[in-house]
Amino acid sequence: MEHYNMNLTLKVWRQKNATAQGNFENYQVKNISSEMSFLEMIDVLNEQLVAENGEPIAFDHDCREGICGMCSMHINGRAHGPWDATTTCQLHMRAFKDGDTITVEPWRAAAFPVIRDLVVDRSAFDRIQQAGGFVSVNTGNAQDANCLPVPKDDADLSFAAASCIGCGACVAACKNSSAMLFVSAKVSQFALLPQGQPERTSRVLNMVAQMDKEGFGSCTNTGACEAECPKEISLTNIARLNREYVKASFLAE
Ligand code: SF4
Ligand code: FES
Repeated sequence: MEHYNMNLTLKVWRQKNATAQGNFENYQVKNISSEMSFLEMIDVLNEQLVAENGEPIAFDHDCREGICGMCSMHINGRAHGPWDATTTCQLHMRAFKDGDTITVEPWRAAAFPVIRDLVVDRSAFDRIQQAGGFVSVNTGNAQDANCLPVPKDDADLSFAAASCIGCGACVAACKNSSAMLFVSAKVSQFALLPQGQPERTSRVLNMVAQMDKEGFGSCTNTGACEAECPKEISLTNIARLNREYVKASFLAE
């Protein structure tokens, strides 16, 4: 596709801190290259704001290559913007046209409070993972891997679940702010492997208990999480989580 430049209007959520009332501000950006990433476009806007003695827009980012899960932005009403299976940092400006107005908001969920502008506190996810605990099996070194054969199908499913980057788009996309897709990915990646068996029961019970404590909503199977997940984590993981949870509840009695 041909490279082109565009002038855009950005409607960005500005909020000074967690307790301040936020509001949308309009900004104009000019000569934005279609080859820029969405975050590079925000960098250009921030340089413009600093040059005008304004406050730059606070936003989370780290790797800018789709692996850290930091770049949580709601763009034109979609978590991570208009491209499927793509994080905000991997979204490119060729997804937009000259003259477009683009609305940018933080994740909206009670369990992810806004800290400033587009930055939300996703530490609830960290606490859920911590509640899952460690894998106590000694996995040895690389050459020891052959001592613990794993069926290929299980390895593939586990690897797919492990590709969850903890970005929170599933929560942001869900009308109930449910964290089930995230938790199901984290439970599944270990439940499918022999190394995950010793703590299989306690892991799922503790992670679900922490998820409920953090105030995430219930899952009503709308599938919005799977549709918006940049890593295409499958809903079948939620079915597995439910099975793991029921089984663990009986075993714990
Ligand atoms: S399941 Fe998908 S949307 Fe949810 S945190 Fe993991 S990668 Fe992000
Ligand atoms: S900045 Fe790391 S996934 Fe987007």
